[in-house]
Amino acid sequence: MLIIFTAAAGLAGCQSTPPAAPASPAVPPSSPTIAPAVPTAAQAAAKQSKNYSDLKVCFVQWNEKSDWRAASTASLQEAAQAVGASLQLIEQEDQVSALRTCISSKVDVIGLVPGVETGWETVFQEAKTAGIPLIVVDRPVSLSQDLYTAFFGSDFVEEGRKAGQQMLKLLPQGGGVVEITGPENSTASLERAKGFREALQGSKIVLLDSQSGDFSRTKGKEIMVGFLKKYEKKIQALYSHSDEMAVGAIQAIEEAGNKPGTEIQIISNDASRAAFEAMVAGKMNAAVEYNPLFGPQFLDLALKAASGEKLEARISVEETIYTPGKAAKLLPTRKY
Ligand code: AHR
Repeated sequence: MLIIFTAAAGLAGCQSTPPAAPASPAVPPSSPTIAPAVPTAAQAAAKQSKNYSDLKVCFVQWNEKSDWRAASTASLQEAAQAVGASLQLIEQEDQVSALRTCISSKVDVIGLVPGVETGWETVFQEAKTAGIPLIVVDRPVSLSQDLYTAFFGSDFVEEGRKAGQQMLKLLPQGGGVVEITGPENSTASLERAKGFREALQGSKIVLLDSQSGDFSRTKGKEIMVGFLKKYEKKIQALYSHSDEMAVGAIQAIEEAGNKPGTEIQIISNDASRAAFEAMVAGKMNAAVEYNPLFGPQFLDLALKAASGEKLEARISVEETIYTPGKAAKLLPTRKY
Protein backbone atom coordinates (compact mmCIF):
# COMPACT_ATOMS: atom_id res chain seq x y z
CA MET A 1 0.00 0.00 0.00
CA LEU A 2 1.27 3.44 -0.86
CA ILE A 3 0.08 6.53 0.91
CA ILE A 4 1.60 9.89 0.14
CA PHE A 5 0.41 12.97 1.98
CA THR A 6 1.69 16.39 1.19
CA ALA A 7 1.28 19.36 3.49
CA ALA A 8 2.62 22.59 2.12
CA ALA A 9 2.58 26.15 3.28
CA GLY A 10 -0.30 28.02 1.73
CA LEU A 11 -2.28 24.97 0.57
CA ALA A 12 -6.05 25.29 0.77
CA GLY A 13 -7.09 24.75 4.35
CA CYS A 14 -3.53 24.91 5.63
CA GLN A 15 -3.02 28.28 7.20
CA SER A 16 0.60 29.30 6.81
CA THR A 17 1.86 30.69 10.09
CA PRO A 18 5.14 32.39 10.87
CA PRO A 19 7.99 30.07 11.82
CA ALA A 20 7.85 28.96 15.46
CA ALA A 21 11.56 29.37 15.84
CA PRO A 22 13.99 31.74 14.20
CA ALA A 23 15.89 30.36 11.27
CA SER A 24 19.11 28.73 12.26
CA PRO A 25 22.25 30.60 11.34
CA ALA A 26 24.15 29.32 8.35
CA VAL A 27 27.34 27.49 9.02
CA PRO A 28 30.19 29.94 8.42
CA PRO A 29 31.64 29.16 5.02
CA SER A 30 34.93 27.38 5.22
CA SER A 31 37.65 29.21 3.34
CA PRO A 32 39.23 26.80 0.92
CA THR A 33 42.51 28.03 -0.45
CA ILE A 34 42.01 26.34 -3.82
CA ALA A 35 38.49 25.92 -5.20
CA PRO A 36 37.89 22.55 -6.88
CA ALA A 37 37.53 22.84 -10.65
CA VAL A 38 34.24 20.92 -10.78
CA PRO A 39 32.00 21.04 -7.70
CA THR A 40 30.63 17.72 -6.44
CA ALA A 41 26.86 17.31 -6.22
CA ALA A 42 27.11 17.78 -2.47
CA GLN A 43 29.08 21.00 -2.85
CA ALA A 44 26.70 22.21 -5.52
CA ALA A 45 23.91 21.79 -3.02
CA ALA A 46 25.89 23.79 -0.44
CA LYS A 47 23.62 24.62 2.46
CA GLN A 48 22.15 28.04 2.97
CA SER A 49 20.25 29.20 6.00
CA LYS A 50 16.60 28.20 5.61
CA ASN A 51 13.25 29.24 7.03
CA TYR A 52 10.40 26.87 7.75
CA SER A 53 8.40 28.51 4.97
CA ASP A 54 10.91 27.37 2.33
CA LEU A 55 11.77 24.03 3.96
CA LYS A 56 10.84 20.91 1.97
CA VAL A 57 10.87 17.71 4.01
CA CYS A 58 10.20 14.19 2.82
CA PHE A 59 9.38 11.71 5.59
CA VAL A 60 9.28 7.95 5.05
CA GLN A 61 7.15 6.53 7.84
CA TRP A 62 7.04 2.86 8.84
CA ASN A 63 3.85 1.42 7.39
CA GLU A 64 2.24 0.04 10.53
CA LYS A 65 -1.26 0.22 11.97
CA SER A 66 -1.11 1.19 15.62
CA ASP A 67 -2.23 4.08 17.80
CA TRP A 68 1.42 4.91 18.52
CA ARG A 69 2.34 5.13 14.83
CA ALA A 70 -0.80 7.14 14.01
CA ALA A 71 0.06 9.59 16.80
CA SER A 72 3.59 10.04 15.52
CA THR A 73 2.34 10.68 11.95
CA ALA A 74 -0.26 13.17 13.17
CA SER A 75 2.37 14.96 15.25
CA LEU A 76 4.59 15.43 12.18
CA GLN A 77 1.71 16.67 10.04
CA GLU A 78 0.48 19.10 12.70
CA ALA A 79 3.97 20.43 13.35
CA ALA A 80 4.64 20.98 9.63
CA GLN A 81 1.34 22.75 9.18
CA ALA A 82 1.90 24.92 12.25
CA VAL A 83 5.23 26.27 10.99
CA GLY A 84 4.31 26.34 7.29
CA ALA A 85 6.88 23.77 6.14
CA SER A 86 6.22 21.46 3.21
CA LEU A 87 5.97 17.81 4.26
CA GLN A 88 5.83 14.92 1.83
CA LEU A 89 4.87 11.90 3.89
CA ILE A 90 5.26 8.42 2.40
CA GLU A 91 3.99 5.20 3.96
CA GLN A 92 4.63 2.10 1.89
CA GLU A 93 6.13 -1.36 2.25
CA ASP A 94 9.10 -0.66 -0.02
CA GLN A 95 10.96 1.99 1.94
CA VAL A 96 13.98 1.99 -0.37
CA SER A 97 11.87 3.10 -3.31
CA ALA A 98 10.14 5.62 -1.02
CA LEU A 99 13.57 7.12 -0.27
CA ARG A 100 14.28 7.30 -4.00
CA THR A 101 11.01 9.21 -4.45
CA CYS A 102 12.23 11.68 -1.81
CA ILE A 103 15.58 12.05 -3.56
CA SER A 104 14.00 12.67 -6.95
CA SER A 105 11.67 15.24 -5.34
CA LYS A 106 14.85 17.20 -4.50
CA VAL A 107 13.73 17.94 -0.97
CA ASP A 108 15.93 19.75 1.56
CA VAL A 109 15.94 16.96 4.11
CA ILE A 110 14.72 13.39 4.47
CA GLY A 111 13.41 11.64 7.59
CA LEU A 112 13.21 7.84 7.66
CA VAL A 113 11.71 5.42 10.18
CA PRO A 114 13.48 2.23 9.07
CA GLY A 115 11.39 -0.89 9.45
CA VAL A 116 14.54 -3.00 9.49
CA GLU A 117 18.10 -2.41 10.60
CA THR A 118 19.99 -3.39 7.47
CA GLY A 119 19.95 -3.01 3.69
CA TRP A 120 20.23 0.77 3.52
CA GLU A 121 23.75 1.37 2.30
CA THR A 122 23.08 1.96 -1.42
CA VAL A 123 20.12 4.26 -1.04
CA PHE A 124 21.71 6.23 1.83
CA GLN A 125 24.71 6.74 -0.42
CA GLU A 126 22.35 8.03 -3.15
CA ALA A 127 20.91 10.61 -0.73
CA LYS A 128 24.39 11.62 0.33
CA THR A 129 25.53 12.00 -3.28
CA ALA A 130 22.46 14.15 -3.95
CA GLY A 131 23.52 16.34 -1.00
CA ILE A 132 20.29 15.70 0.95
CA PRO A 133 20.70 15.32 4.73
CA LEU A 134 19.01 12.17 6.02
CA ILE A 135 17.82 11.87 9.60
CA VAL A 136 17.09 8.34 10.82
CA VAL A 137 14.08 8.52 13.13
CA ASP A 138 12.72 6.22 15.82
CA ARG A 139 14.68 3.04 15.02
CA PRO A 140 18.44 3.00 14.47
CA VAL A 141 20.13 1.37 11.47
CA SER A 142 23.21 -0.79 11.41
CA LEU A 143 25.34 1.38 9.14
CA SER A 144 28.31 3.69 9.24
CA GLN A 145 27.25 7.07 10.61
CA ASP A 146 28.97 8.95 7.79
CA LEU A 147 26.15 7.87 5.45
CA TYR A 148 23.47 9.79 7.36
CA THR A 149 23.14 12.96 9.40
CA ALA A 150 21.83 11.83 12.78
CA PHE A 151 19.69 9.35 14.63
CA PHE A 152 16.72 10.85 16.45
CA GLY A 153 14.68 8.57 18.67
CA SER A 154 14.61 6.60 21.84
CA ASP A 155 17.31 4.72 23.67
CA PHE A 156 15.63 1.33 23.36
CA VAL A 157 18.21 -0.46 25.51
CA GLU A 158 17.42 2.01 28.29
CA GLU A 159 13.67 1.44 27.79
CA GLY A 160 14.26 -2.30 28.22
CA ARG A 161 16.37 -1.66 31.31
CA LYS A 162 13.66 0.53 32.83
CA ALA A 163 11.13 -2.26 32.21
CA GLY A 164 13.49 -4.77 33.84
CA GLN A 165 14.08 -2.55 36.87
CA GLN A 166 10.34 -2.14 37.27
CA MET A 167 9.92 -5.93 36.97
CA LEU A 168 12.38 -6.38 39.84
CA LYS A 169 10.17 -4.12 41.96
CA LEU A 170 7.05 -6.09 41.04
CA LEU A 171 8.63 -9.50 41.68
CA PRO A 172 11.18 -8.98 44.48
CA GLN A 173 11.10 -12.72 45.30
CA GLY A 174 11.54 -13.71 41.66
CA GLY A 175 9.06 -15.59 39.48
CA GLY A 176 8.25 -16.70 35.95
CA VAL A 177 8.09 -13.99 33.28
CA VAL A 178 7.14 -14.15 29.61
CA GLU A 179 8.05 -11.59 27.00
CA ILE A 180 6.25 -10.51 23.83
CA THR A 181 8.62 -8.61 21.55
CA GLY A 182 8.11 -6.50 18.44
CA PRO A 183 9.19 -7.73 14.98
CA GLU A 184 12.19 -10.02 15.21
CA ASN A 185 14.64 -7.95 13.19
CA SER A 186 13.63 -4.50 14.44
CA THR A 187 16.02 -2.53 16.59
CA ALA A 188 13.19 -1.64 18.95
CA SER A 189 12.79 -5.35 19.79
CA LEU A 190 16.44 -6.32 19.83
CA GLU A 191 17.50 -3.45 22.08
CA ARG A 192 14.53 -3.55 24.47
CA ALA A 193 15.17 -7.28 24.92
CA LYS A 194 18.84 -6.60 25.58
CA GLY A 195 18.20 -3.92 28.23
CA PHE A 196 15.51 -6.05 29.90
CA ARG A 197 17.87 -9.02 30.26
CA GLU A 198 20.65 -6.79 31.55
CA ALA A 199 18.42 -5.48 34.35
CA LEU A 200 17.30 -8.98 35.38
CA GLN A 201 20.78 -10.42 35.55
CA GLY A 202 21.55 -11.98 38.94
CA SER A 203 17.88 -11.84 40.05
CA LYS A 204 15.58 -14.78 40.79
CA ILE A 205 13.35 -13.92 37.86
CA VAL A 206 13.17 -16.65 35.25
CA LEU A 207 12.44 -15.64 31.67
CA LEU A 208 10.22 -18.56 30.64
CA ASP A 209 9.75 -17.60 27.01
CA SER A 210 10.01 -14.79 24.49
CA GLN A 211 8.14 -14.54 21.18
CA SER A 212 7.44 -11.88 18.61
CA GLY A 213 3.98 -10.31 18.53
CA ASP A 214 4.96 -7.97 15.66
CA PHE A 215 3.66 -4.92 17.57
CA SER A 216 0.15 -6.13 16.74
CA ARG A 217 -2.77 -6.49 19.16
CA THR A 218 -4.08 -9.64 17.47
CA LYS A 219 -0.66 -11.28 17.44
CA GLY A 220 -0.02 -10.22 21.07
CA LYS A 221 -3.24 -12.00 22.05
CA GLU A 222 -2.33 -15.10 20.05
CA ILE A 223 1.11 -15.35 21.65
CA MET A 224 -0.30 -14.92 25.15
CA VAL A 225 -2.89 -17.66 24.52
CA GLY A 226 0.02 -19.96 23.62
CA PHE A 227 2.05 -18.94 26.69
CA LEU A 228 -0.90 -19.56 29.01
CA LYS A 229 -1.45 -23.03 27.58
CA LYS A 230 2.22 -23.90 27.76
CA TYR A 231 3.15 -22.51 31.18
CA GLU A 232 -0.23 -22.40 32.97
CA LYS A 233 0.32 -21.15 36.53
CA LYS A 234 4.05 -20.57 36.14
CA ILE A 235 3.59 -17.09 34.65
CA GLN A 236 3.74 -14.31 37.23
CA ALA A 237 4.38 -11.44 34.85
CA LEU A 238 4.49 -10.31 31.25
CA TYR A 239 6.82 -7.83 29.60
CA SER A 240 5.27 -6.59 26.36
CA HIS A 241 7.31 -4.41 24.00
CA SER A 242 4.23 -2.36 23.10
CA ASP A 243 0.86 -1.39 24.56
CA GLU A 244 -0.97 -2.73 21.49
CA MET A 245 0.34 -6.23 22.19
CA ALA A 246 -0.25 -5.83 25.93
CA VAL A 247 -3.91 -5.02 25.29
CA GLY A 248 -4.20 -8.20 23.20
CA ALA A 249 -2.46 -10.18 25.95
CA ILE A 250 -4.82 -8.76 28.60
CA GLN A 251 -7.77 -10.07 26.58
CA ALA A 252 -6.13 -13.50 26.41
CA ILE A 253 -5.45 -13.52 30.16
CA GLU A 254 -9.04 -12.55 30.98
CA GLU A 255 -10.50 -15.07 28.56
CA ALA A 256 -8.42 -17.76 30.25
CA GLY A 257 -10.03 -16.78 33.58
CA ASN A 258 -6.96 -15.03 35.06
CA LYS A 259 -6.61 -11.53 36.42
CA PRO A 260 -4.22 -9.24 34.53
CA GLY A 261 -2.47 -6.76 36.81
CA THR A 262 -2.67 -9.03 39.87
CA GLU A 263 -2.33 -12.73 39.04
CA ILE A 264 -0.24 -11.85 36.02
CA GLN A 265 1.48 -8.47 36.37
CA ILE A 266 2.14 -6.50 33.20
CA ILE A 267 4.76 -4.01 32.10
CA SER A 268 4.60 -2.53 28.64
CA ASN A 269 6.39 -0.04 26.38
CA ASP A 270 4.88 3.14 24.88
CA ALA A 271 2.59 4.49 27.67
CA SER A 272 -0.25 5.28 25.28
CA ARG A 273 -3.84 6.00 26.38
CA ALA A 274 -4.58 2.26 26.16
CA ALA A 275 -1.91 1.61 28.80
CA PHE A 276 -3.27 4.40 31.02
CA GLU A 277 -6.79 2.98 30.74
CA ALA A 278 -5.48 -0.48 31.60
CA MET A 279 -3.56 0.89 34.61
CA VAL A 280 -6.62 2.79 35.85
CA ALA A 281 -8.62 -0.45 35.52
CA GLY A 282 -5.94 -2.26 37.56
CA LYS A 283 -4.95 -4.47 34.61
CA MET A 284 -1.44 -3.15 33.98
CA ASN A 285 1.35 -2.35 36.42
CA ALA A 286 3.74 -0.03 34.61
CA ALA A 287 4.22 1.64 31.24
CA VAL A 288 7.64 2.76 30.04
CA GLU A 289 7.10 5.76 27.86
CA TYR A 290 8.13 6.20 24.27
CA ASN A 291 6.65 9.51 23.28
CA PRO A 292 5.56 9.61 19.61
CA LEU A 293 4.73 13.34 19.66
CA PHE A 294 8.11 14.36 18.34
CA GLY A 295 6.94 16.25 15.23
CA PRO A 296 8.06 19.72 16.47
CA GLN A 297 11.45 18.41 17.66
CA PHE A 298 11.97 16.60 14.34
CA LEU A 299 11.15 19.71 12.29
CA ASP A 300 13.56 21.77 14.35
CA LEU A 301 16.30 19.23 13.56
CA ALA A 302 15.27 19.12 9.89
CA LEU A 303 15.59 22.90 9.63
CA LYS A 304 19.02 22.82 11.22
CA ALA A 305 20.20 20.00 8.97
CA ALA A 306 18.85 21.72 5.85
CA SER A 307 20.69 24.88 6.90
CA GLY A 308 23.96 22.98 7.13
CA GLU A 309 24.18 22.91 10.93
CA LYS A 310 25.98 19.93 12.38
CA LEU A 311 23.68 17.77 14.51
CA GLU A 312 24.63 15.51 17.40
CA ALA A 313 25.00 11.92 16.15
CA ARG A 314 22.25 10.68 18.46
CA ILE A 315 19.38 12.83 19.72
CA SER A 316 16.89 11.54 22.27
CA VAL A 317 13.17 11.90 22.69
CA GLU A 318 12.25 12.66 26.31
CA GLU A 319 10.45 9.86 28.13
CA THR A 320 9.57 8.50 31.56
CA ILE A 321 7.90 5.57 33.42
CA TYR A 322 4.26 5.63 34.56
CA THR A 323 2.67 3.50 37.25
CA PRO A 324 -1.02 3.15 38.23
CA GLY A 325 -0.68 5.82 40.96
CA LYS A 326 -0.19 8.58 38.38
CA ALA A 327 -2.41 7.06 35.69
CA ALA A 328 -5.88 8.27 36.72
CA LYS A 329 -4.72 11.88 37.07
CA LEU A 330 -2.86 11.90 33.74
CA LEU A 331 -5.35 9.92 31.61
CA PRO A 332 -7.61 12.89 30.69
CA THR A 333 -4.68 14.84 29.26
CA ARG A 334 -3.00 11.92 27.51
CA LYS A 335 -2.80 12.82 23.82
CA TYR A 336 -2.05 9.38 22.36
O1 AHR B 1 9.55 1.95 16.95
C1 AHR B 1 8.76 2.25 18.04
C2 AHR B 1 7.78 1.19 18.29
O2 AHR B 1 7.00 0.96 17.16
C3 AHR B 1 6.80 1.47 19.38
O3 AHR B 1 7.25 1.23 20.65
C4 AHR B 1 5.77 0.52 18.97
O4 AHR B 1 4.59 0.54 19.67
C5 AHR B 1 5.65 0.95 17.56
O5 AHR B 1 4.78 0.38 16.85
